[in-house]
Amino acid sequence: MNRKNNLLPHNTGEHAMNGTSARVIGDTKITLTGAAQAYSVRGGRREVLTGIDIEIKTNESVAVIGPTGVGKSTLLRLIAGFEDPTSGEVKLWNDGRSSVAAPAADIGYLFQQPALFPWMTVKQNVLFGARHGKTYGHDKQEMLSQADYFMERVGLLDAADLFPYQISGGMRARTALARVFLTRPKVLLMDEPFGALDALTRREMYVLLRDLVSKSPELTTVMVTHDVDEAITLCGTIMIISGIPGTITSVYRSGLAAMAESAEDLQREPDYVELKAALLKSLNARRNETRTTSGTAS
Ligand SMILES: Nc1ncnc2c1ncn2[C@@H]1O[C@H](COP(=O)(O)OP(=O)(O)O)[C@@H](O)[C@H]1O
Ligand SMILES: [Mg+2]
Repeated sequence: MNRKNNLLPHNTGEHAMNGTSARVIGDTKITLTGAAQAYSVRGGRREVLTGIDIEIKTNESVAVIGPTGVGKSTLLRLIAGFEDPTSGEVKLWNDGRSSVAAPAADIGYLFQQPALFPWMTVKQNVLFGARHGKTYGHDKQEMLSQADYFMERVGLLDAADLFPYQISGGMRARTALARVFLTRPKVLLMDEPFGALDALTRREMYVLLRDLVSKSPELTTVMVTHDVDEAITLCGTIMIISGIPGTITSVYRSGLAAMAESAEDLQREPDYVELKAALLKSLNARRNETRTTSGTAS
């Protein structure tokens, strides 16, 4: 793999802002074209996102990074079909056809808080999405054996009969991970899914997520984070979102996330160090720009 060539030259810089997204080849899974989102707030409208042009391929893993309040969660809600854009288009492509984006069973969503039902055991929580999404039709046996498979993969078999209040934060996050993978999503959207976890547990989650993703060759993932290390470790495409209203200002590509090395070993790779520096520089430059143009950002 020629990783060097895969790294910085793909930074599309300002071009991504103008929608020159010809960089994507192959089977397209998600497209946003000139998408904008605004909300009615007291005394007027708040423009949150503008001019979002994104093309995401099947099997691509995308990180969206940017400061708090820039519109990352809003972008994810648009892709999930929880909200419609005020202008522009959001499309999810299934079997070569575009479908109007709407909440669907084959879109998995991981929230920052694992959102477990407190009255259900770990296993009941894991089964919940697949049961209601009808992922397995009438094949209950297959669903149960897959539930055991995913619980085993994330190390939860021994905790199957415990309730959420009886397990650690890391175990709750692993429950949510097993639950979402059991639904066999084609698209997995993650909104700072490990943000509430300590550093060590986050590392464990990286290993699990990389393992599960590598076993789902058709899966497309989009992860929102403000953690540069998380983005590089888990995602081959990294988009920086900045400004008020927010827009995608740079796109970086790297082969680092696809490598078999552990997170620790990856961080020692010269490409990693170089990419991290470039991302931080880009984030800081944008932040300063926002400060001087708006005068309000903190
Ligand atoms: N439903 C809403 N109504 C009004 N304002 C909203 C709504 N949702 C989000 N916002 C505002 O949009 C901006 C971006 O929010 P969000 O997408 O949550 O940012 P991020 O996830 O990057 O922190 C924030 O200023 C937030 O207050
Ligand atoms: Mg958010």
